Amino acid sequence: MAMAKASFLIIFTLAFCLALGSSKSHKYSKTISPSSLGLKKEKLSHLHFYFHDVLSGQNPTAVRVAAAAMTNTSRSFFGSVMMMDDPLTLLPDPKSKTIGYAQGIYASASQTEVGLLMVLNFVFKEGKYNGSTLSVLGRNAVFSGIREMPIVGGSGAFRFARGYAKAKTHSLDMNTGDAVVEYNVYALHY
Ligand SMILES: *[C@@H]1O[C@H](CO)[C@@H](O)[C@H](O)[C@H]1NC(C)=O
Ligand SMILES: *[C@@H]1O[C@H](CO)[C@@H](O)[C@H](O)[C@H]1NC(C)=O
Repeated sequence: MAMAKASFLIIFTLAFCLALGSSKSHKYSKTISPSSLGLKKEKLSHLHFYFHDVLSGQNPTAVRVAAAAMTNTSRSFFGSVMMMDDPLTLLPDPKSKTIGYAQGIYASASQTEVGLLMVLNFVFKEGKYNGSTLSVLGRNAVFSGIREMPIVGGSGAFRFARGYAKAKTHSLDMNTGDAVVEYNVYALHY
């Protein structure tokens, strides 16, 4: 008798806990006010810097991490995947002040021209944006004049960021592939 009572109690308790658990799992979100996160007025920032993509020499900043069997015979390097940690500087001179890095991947995603899929974070290391990032996901047809890529988000000072980046080649060494690219970035953030 006592055994039956005890097992009934255990089953009842288990069922109760399960019911409680499942009703709780329906409530994982709620509406809050922007001010509760300290968000005030949205502002627009313009950032200007130079991006250094170095493929040659002892210390390249971008390396090929993957390719297809056909990549070497493709005029657009289709299938090539590069990993970069490219310095961002104030001026075109690579020895000018480094304000951050472009860290991520660029991959050749077009069979008809050099059209790169860019997936990267601008990681800032100077001033009020030190430690903050902006995320880029876009297409970069490197041999066209000015390329535009979306800013899809950010962290730190750039939480909730959205905007666009304009890239313009400043110099390109056709032998090594080393390039300096001027970036103008426009981002809305709080
Ligand atoms: C393509 O060319 C590069 C450089 O010449 C070489 O290192 C690589 O092995 C080649 N890849 C293929 C898949 O043939
Ligand atoms: C950027 O922030 C890091 C981490 O807080 C700090 O170590 C570094 O000195 C800062 N750099 C500048 C230039 O303020």
